[in-house]
Amino acid sequence: MDVIRVMSLKRFGVSIPEDLLERFDEVVVKRGYIGRSEAIRDAMRLFLSQYEADLEEKGSIGTISVLYRHKPKVMASLTKMQHGSDAHVISTMHVHLTPLHCLEVATVKGKKDGIQNLADKMGGLTGVEYVRLFLFAVPDLEHEH
Ligand code: NI
Repeated sequence: MDVIRVMSLKRFGVSIPEDLLERFDEVVVKRGYIGRSEAIRDAMRLFLSQYEADLEEKGSIGTISVLYRHKPKVMASLTKMQHGSDAHVISTMHVHLTPLHCLEVATVKGKKDGIQNLADKMGGLTGVEYVRLFLFAVPDLEHEH
């Protein structure tokens, strides 16, 4: 026999626009839920996990890889952006990739928004061919290797 997890369930009433409920119910059916309740529970879990991830009080670590045309103006702008960023740029590595291209990898630390902002700004610069951000939460200190 399976172990049955007993949990107390609360019922509550919610006022919701009709069209929103209709759209929700359509997805409930398409996803194969038996009823609306489990779908609402899943939606609430997702809502909470995203809130907690965004909160991220410990901060995030990331790397921003930038491939750009080797031009002094582009290099100067990238450096200026890093100095002025909310994200803390821990280190940068510069690779003279080809006679025309440079690759720069910046290791950054801070709030997700600040890091994302810096990556977006770098990506919008003329001469930058592409930017790739890799972001992760700071690992737990209690975790042993
Ligand atoms: Ni270079």
